[in-house]
Amino acid sequence: MSFVFCSLCCAQQVTPQLMMAVGTAVMGSLQFGYNTGVINAPQNIIERFYNETWSSRFSEPIPPGTLTALWSLSVAIFSVGGMIGSFSISLFVNRFGRKNSMLMANVLVFIAATFMGLSQLAGSFEMLIIGRFIIGVYSGLSTGFVPMYIEEISPTSIRGALGTLHQLGVVVGILMAQIFGIEAIMGNATLWPLLLGFTILPAILQCALLPLCPESPRYLLMNCNEEIKACNVLKKLRGTDNVGEDLQEMRNENQQMMREKKVTIIELFRSTIYRQPIFVAIMLQLSQQLSGINAVFYYSTRIFERAGVAQPVYATIGTGVVNTAFTVVSLFVVERVGRKPLHLTGLMGMAISAVLLTVAMSLLVSICMAIFSFVAFFEIGPGPIPWFIVAELFSQGPRPAAIAVAGFCNWSANFLVGMCFQYVEQLCGPYVFIIFTVLLLGFFTFTYFKVPETKGRTFDEIAAGFRMSAGHGADKYSAPEEFNTLRGDDPDL
Ligand code: GLC
Repeated sequence: MSFVFCSLCCAQQVTPQLMMAVGTAVMGSLQFGYNTGVINAPQNIIERFYNETWSSRFSEPIPPGTLTALWSLSVAIFSVGGMIGSFSISLFVNRFGRKNSMLMANVLVFIAATFMGLSQLAGSFEMLIIGRFIIGVYSGLSTGFVPMYIEEISPTSIRGALGTLHQLGVVVGILMAQIFGIEAIMGNATLWPLLLGFTILPAILQCALLPLCPESPRYLLMNCNEEIKACNVLKKLRGTDNVGEDLQEMRNENQQMMREKKVTIIELFRSTIYRQPIFVAIMLQLSQQLSGINAVFYYSTRIFERAGVAQPVYATIGTGVVNTAFTVVSLFVVERVGRKPLHLTGLMGMAISAVLLTVAMSLLVSICMAIFSFVAFFEIGPGPIPWFIVAELFSQGPRPAAIAVAGFCNWSANFLVGMCFQYVEQLCGPYVFIIFTVLLLGFFTFTYFKVPETKGRTFDEIAAGFRMSAGHGADKYSAPEEFNTLRGDDPDL
């Protein structure tokens, strides 16, 4: 990741303090990625443990249907935890602050790692499943805390690039899990508990570094009314005393926030101002998960195996490498090209790749290239953008509630894919990815007509755009001429 940081250092306003804060936060994203990818490679070995445990308890081998159900549960319970975690973020962020919330959540990692790491010793697959659930709750919290913190401390001009670092943390985590999952490293009958328990290390590192990072200045000013503290943090983050413009923008947003009543989750759907952006946020999250990406990240080893690939674990690592490489591409182009064109390109590229994959699966040829291309297009847009754009679509008041709702939808769709994919694949065989093609084309159409561009706009300007579109008129904080650009192709916005 260091060369990314170095290149970004050339960009204006990227200070060591800012990179330290972002780098520490994305360790939470790394955990999310690690635990997404970690059960893929050692599936056969852990299934053997389930079988042995079952046999020793009931003196008969585990019925194949029960094994599939138990395995699907072990995979998908992670997303159930994620749903609960992501939905709970608003309970934490305004009460304890962004930084302390991230710090506190690590308790869950310590518990989860203990459960998963000791499950074999205790002869209990239930412990593994409980551990997967708890680490899922942590990951759900992280998918809210991390993008929110990063977006709130970043300068507007590089907010998208820094927001993409959340996804870079995720993909590096997935890649680490895939590599550590090789039989020669930890993906074997003796060391797999260590592979699952390894997640504790980034948590320890994050706990050591977070106290050295600043609290979000937006939280200090708008939630705690601590303008002096906010100003000092901004000076450190920006590496200059000249933070008047940033501060003024935050004051504007704060005044606007004071005029709004407290925004609850129900209010998000009732209010005409928030209905449009929350709908956009939800659809973007669904476009990420219902693209079918996690069918690959949870089950690729099995998919490669069935297609007759000689070294399925190495092909899985190949997906991780492509995944990481293209997230880096997105990181460098997102501020130049914008969010919307990248998301559209990614969705269309995935739809085409899914067709190629279907052909490859039926003919048992070139499956690797089709999967690599599917993953590459995912990371161009649908991977990174939905995670950080939600924070951009909402101002400080509704932001926590909106991130909670959007995260919950993301994790619910993640659960659906994790739980059902194996069953649908049994039904549809090689044609399973056609379902994702249809969904991808639907999301492409939605994005084209309904998603506004947020590149280069302050939070206040973006919110003003939505207020105007909801018929609440321009006020002294809105920027009508910029809103015209913000509208993009959408006549309704
Ligand atoms: C995104 C998704 C996650 C997926 C990952 C793959 O972060 O939210 O579910 O596994 O991308 O890179």
